[in-house]
Amino acid sequence: NSSQTFVNDPETDFAVPENQERMQKALIAVRSELGLTVPIVIGGKRESSEETIDRADPSDTSRIASRMSCATRDQTERALVSAAAAFPAWRDTPPSERGALLRRTAQELEKRRFKIAAWQVYEVGKPWREADADIAEAIDFCVYYADEMERMTAPRRRDIPGEWNSYIYDGRGPAVIIAPWNFPLAILTGMAVAALVTGNPVILKPAEQSSRVGYFLMEALEAAGVPAGVANFLPGVGETIGPVLVSDPRVALIAFTGSKDVGLSIIKAAAETPPGQREIKRVIAELGGKNAIIIDEDADLDEAVLGVLASTTGFSGQKCSACSRVIVVGSAWEAFQSRLAEAVKSIRIGPAEDPATTMGPVVDEASRERVQKYIAIGKTEARLLAQANVPAHLEDAGNYVPAAVFYDCQPEGRLCREEIFGPVLAVLRAPNLDEALTMASDSPYALSGGFYSRSPANIERIRREFRVGNLYINRKITGALVDRQPFGGAAMSGVGSKAGGPDYLLQFVVPRTITESV
Ligand code: SER
Repeated sequence: NSSQTFVNDPETDFAVPENQERMQKALIAVRSELGLTVPIVIGGKRESSEETIDRADPSDTSRIASRMSCATRDQTERALVSAAAAFPAWRDTPPSERGALLRRTAQELEKRRFKIAAWQVYEVGKPWREADADIAEAIDFCVYYADEMERMTAPRRRDIPGEWNSYIYDGRGPAVIIAPWNFPLAILTGMAVAALVTGNPVILKPAEQSSRVGYFLMEALEAAGVPAGVANFLPGVGETIGPVLVSDPRVALIAFTGSKDVGLSIIKAAAETPPGQREIKRVIAELGGKNAIIIDEDADLDEAVLGVLASTTGFSGQKCSACSRVIVVGSAWEAFQSRLAEAVKSIRIGPAEDPATTMGPVVDEASRERVQKYIAIGKTEARLLAQANVPAHLEDAGNYVPAAVFYDCQPEGRLCREEIFGPVLAVLRAPNLDEALTMASDSPYALSGGFYSRSPANIERIRREFRVGNLYINRKITGALVDRQPFGGAAMSGVGSKAGGPDYLLQFVVPRTITESV
């Protein structure tokens, strides 16, 4: 089983001076490229558009990071034609060749590693370490899905005298990949290469906030030798081109990661079967979370505070896996709340390019306003425990928000129920583990969750009863690794099997059974 030998790509150690230097050099190099226009790629050819959208650097909004070409309806139509035309030959390309394409793509991404990380710093405001981890994850998806494809295509024969039976997988058809900006390379890459390796041509629709980073995947695929038309790159305004892509009868597959509302509308639109449509569309949707960590009475509170802080404020809380609720059991409260308050005040908010920054900005002005709105709601629904303040000189420089922790929250309140996608934490208290578990599970979502405890019996109970997609015990609840922690949720957190896990590729194929009487 090749996946047992899979090894995660190591993250870059920025304590090593040489790595610091390489990153600083990449930042300088990228600064001189800022403002470049990100093109559209259809059938192997680059195209532009009259309409472009400027993307401000979230850390310094006076600076343009990238300029996205907005695909028109005509370009969208041609991308669909291109992907549909490429399908038969790509489906019939030996899986080993498709796997080899993924392995070469991983190498191409590795070559550009520091540059892609530097672009993440300026395009989405992602601090160094997390930007680097995103590229490591993208590389992991390429290698892991190449391994998985080998495993899936190992011959499966059930022959008896007089009858030969085999079982094989085909691609489904053109796939539309609609990606988010928060893991701007990794999630786009994961969904795209899963489709490609299983024999489906792709139309890559990067998030509007991260088209330059998304374009690195297109460049890496081309450098790795992807045939023209098998991968098409279609940046554009989601509201304009998204519905066209999703409802097109030529599309067989849609892989989406993003908000619950958009995901549900895609599922609805994809259920229509207009005349001429061949396949019933398959939708894989990775949606939101309102994830909770339970702190048991006997938990190691120093560890718990560190884990909660990392899970809440990592990439400014802009992860579907982020912690946004903490439920503290009984007597743990006093010590936990004072240590958490201290920890929050020690957060260093600053520009993403500064290696000393522990929390950068949020992605855009709309996000900043949303986070501020929830902080205001918190002040009416609950009480502020602590806040990490934005340094005065940065207040108007970028999309900075304070990290804020509230206590005495109402379980039915908006702070406890709505996904904020920012560094805002609601702390609840429970008299015992029973009630803590009820509160933790009281959410429309079921993505990630955590438990800090030293009690084997309580840990065993949580394993059984805290039903979330990714449950973490005595560690942070973000940062799932490909293969080690296949990632994805249930309930309103999404539909489809886990990214980076053993069932993921099965969603992208049509199985066929062939029986021959001999
Ligand atoms: N996979 C990411 C994490 O685990 C979220 O998308 O944090």
